[in-house]
Amino acid sequence: MQLRFAMTAKLQFSAEFSEEAKTAFGNAVSGSGAIFSKGVPKDADSADVGHIEGAPRIEGNYAELTFVSGPYTRVHDALFRFRKQIPAVLGKFRMGLREIEISGYTVTMTGAFPEVFRVPALPFITSSRFQGDQLVLELKVTATDLENRIPDRLVRLIEEKIEAATYGGKGEHWELLFESGPKPRYSEKDPTTEMLEHGWIKHAPARGQWIFGPPAVQLFRAFETIVMREIISPLGFSEMIFPKMVPWEVWMRSGHAKGIYPEVYYICTPKTRDPAYWEDVSDYFKVTGEVWVDEIRKRIDGPIGGMCYAQCPPFWPFVQGETLANDCLPARVFDRSGTSHRYESGGIHGIERVDEFHRIEILWLGTAEQTVDIAEKLHGAYHRVFEDILELEWRSAKVTPWFMAQEGMVGGEASCGCGSRIGTTDYEAYLPYNESWLEFQNVSINGDKYPKGFNVKIQSGADCWSGCSGIGLERWTAAFLAQKGLKPEDWPEMVARLVGEPKNLFKFL
Ligand code: SER
Ligand code: ZN
Repeated sequence: MQLRFAMTAKLQFSAEFSEEAKTAFGNAVSGSGAIFSKGVPKDADSADVGHIEGAPRIEGNYAELTFVSGPYTRVHDALFRFRKQIPAVLGKFRMGLREIEISGYTVTMTGAFPEVFRVPALPFITSSRFQGDQLVLELKVTATDLENRIPDRLVRLIEEKIEAATYGGKGEHWELLFESGPKPRYSEKDPTTEMLEHGWIKHAPARGQWIFGPPAVQLFRAFETIVMREIISPLGFSEMIFPKMVPWEVWMRSGHAKGIYPEVYYICTPKTRDPAYWEDVSDYFKVTGEVWVDEIRKRIDGPIGGMCYAQCPPFWPFVQGETLANDCLPARVFDRSGTSHRYESGGIHGIERVDEFHRIEILWLGTAEQTVDIAEKLHGAYHRVFEDILELEWRSAKVTPWFMAQEGMVGGEASCGCGSRIGTTDYEAYLPYNESWLEFQNVSINGDKYPKGFNVKIQSGADCWSGCSGIGLERWTAAFLAQKGLKPEDWPEMVARLVGEPKNLFKFL
């Protein structure tokens, strides 16, 4: 995409221009080229570099300037660089800069726009029009907006949307890394239906939510024991408890604020905890037997955030703003203290696709080398568990990094981080009953994304990196039971031993 920026800025001064001041200011404008070319690649086309076009238009205590640029020293950067020169030029005339008014700001983007691309309604954009292969955007911005780099963010966002429209429908990237080959299968049935029939689970009243009975939990705990013994303990991870209510502040830093909205379970708080304020709402239920939801909606604040979604982001305030001693790295922790929640697509799904799920989240941070090394050790440990202990038919694939997918950025090969050390590997298990593959966990090297977002540094000055790996217990259960069935006598020895005799506590008449 070729970029062109044009901006008109009206500078207001504390005194009127004298003739000498006009000349001095005019000279400063015509000699300003050098300050704009700093940091620009030597071979850049001069039309691509910010500059002031024409002479200033001066009247009373105002001077109006037109800036134009391509991608280098964009017009707003050029304005601020020029502003720095003003005291030296006009100070001797006792003229100070009072205010900057941006009377016009136009961005022109030239390139191939996919047919499905539409300019979305965006703040600051007052008009947008297509002229052939050009998109012309008019912006209404203040000098403060320019300091906040609003035009850069808008252009970046539109480029992302063009990219999304180009890749639209192609979905996530997926590149096979390993395939286990066939393993003994003892079932052709849907594990959710089977578990329901055997009384292991029941539908909970909320959407995508299950109540897990004792036999299901025995299996969950057996998996947890395997994960502890074979992965978490030998690799030296320590248990922490991460919060499960996530305020916007965390998602602003993690990047989730860019795109999580359709899937969040939002959290609201009462406007007051004064019982008198709520008395009629309580009474309404006592009289009608209905909860007065419309009225409750008027008496709550927020949403202040949402329920745990990705599990690792709310860890980060623990280290936010800190410099980590070299000798405490790589720091290795995990959390298994609660549920994660996603507003999934409607319809009835089995336990492999739920709105409320249980996951062990493993997280580590350190130098890039330490982070990559732990990811490799984890891959080795998972490989052993799936091959030798669970005897699963599984495969692994490099996919779009989870954090990009959760920010709503799905794309082609470049987005998967393939070829780079950063990225997500999904582990998938074969489901004989519907001949599909189910993602049942992932391992990711997240690069410096989180340490940067939460401002975490390392004593040595090396870049801080992190990784995470989510072990979904419902997904492990679905994968395992889909291949091995519900009879412990068909299960691999260690799983059968750890589960013991399935306890069917309830008898329904
Ligand atoms: N946080 C990662 C994810 O949400 C791993 O669990 O996928
Ligand atoms: Zn994570």
